[in-house]
Amino acid sequence: MSSQLANEAPFEESVLAFFYRQWLVRRKPVPAGTDLSSQVAIVTGSNSGLGLEAGRQLLQLGLSHLILAVRSQSRGDKAAEGLRKEFPNADVSVWLLDMSSYDSITTFVERCKSLPKINMVILNAGLKGAAVFTTVESTGHEYSFQVNYISTALLTILLLPVLKSKRVAESKQPTLTVVTSDSAFWTSIETPGPILAQLDKAEDYTAMSWYQKAKLLQYFFISKLAAEVNSDDVIVNLANPGLCRGTAFENAGDWSVITTLMFDTFKRMNGRSVATGASTYVDAAVVKGVESHGSYVSEWAIRPYPKILYTDVGAQIRERLWEETMEDLSFAGVSKVIEQLKR
Ligand SMILES: NC(=O)c1ccc[n+]([C@@H]2O[C@H](COP(=O)([O-])OP(=O)(O)OC[C@H]3O[C@@H](n4cnc5c(N)ncnc54)[C@H](OP(=O)(O)O)[C@@H]3O)[C@@H](O)[C@H]2O)c1
Repeated sequence: MSSQLANEAPFEESVLAFFYRQWLVRRKPVPAGTDLSSQVAIVTGSNSGLGLEAGRQLLQLGLSHLILAVRSQSRGDKAAEGLRKEFPNADVSVWLLDMSSYDSITTFVERCKSLPKINMVILNAGLKGAAVFTTVESTGHEYSFQVNYISTALLTILLLPVLKSKRVAESKQPTLTVVTSDSAFWTSIETPGPILAQLDKAEDYTAMSWYQKAKLLQYFFISKLAAEVNSDDVIVNLANPGLCRGTAFENAGDWSVITTLMFDTFKRMNGRSVATGASTYVDAAVVKGVESHGSYVSEWAIRPYPKILYTDVGAQIRERLWEETMEDLSFAGVSKVIEQLKR
């Protein structure tokens, strides 16, 4: 478990470790005989990039029903059309989900209740924010922080009882995998004081730093959530695809032409293929079991959290973030949902 890997955390966040991960760790194949026939999976943000490729890899393993949870019907339909051609025997559905809208999230969760079973959910939808600080009107949160952290936390919590109720006896418990990023290793959260408010103020905003901070909050959130959820009911874990080239994950437009060119070149030289990146999702959702509950899965193995999670300050941040998240999402009755999961 990641919680026991404190000794490895300092190296994991070094520049050397980044290049080691990108260049030297070889992709681990899915165990021979892995068969997902008769299984149902949901992947968010799956009309492009890593989400779409993860869906394809699940279908290659025989998945019966893939739900592409996307914010654009036309982009979803286009992705589904390609997958249906490639996998004519599988059921590929397109369901609308806009992660910047609480109404869309709750409607989506209601729809999930209609499924006869759900074996895995991969929460992959994510983005880098706009060049200038932009808020979601209905919530007041900065847009990328909303999608990458707050809404991801809401969707995670609301899906837990649904997944628990859809568990099929004698099969592996459902897995909920949240896609994070190892770029979170190179950011920090101000202490002490409120946490969510730090990402709601325009001061010091850059698209990249808000992206990294929101991803760092995911580690705190999932490590705390796992303690509240019985892994016999649902396994929750984090997956990191590593730096990947060839997705639609764009620079926000706040970098100079030179910086953008340098980053694109860096990504082309050091980035993984989309297939390799997406295989980390399949590893976390399909191959890993209860041992990954609450853990960070990267390079096809359970790896350490960012160093701060092992410190006393990190423990305080985790508790404060949990309380603030529960408070922020109280309109959806999240505390009660968590409470009821324990029964
Ligand atoms: N690429 C990398 O190097 C890298 C590294 C580490 C982690 N990641 C993570 O991997 C995930 C996928 O990224 P990617 O590289 O595959 O980029 P991508 O091709 O841009 O895919 C992102 C997906 O998220 C969707 N999305 C964005 N905002 C949304 C919203 N409000 N509601 C619903 N869906 C929304 C996008 O939908 P639209 O097409 O409609 O915009 C798209 O389908 C992200 O969580 C990212 O943080 C990527």
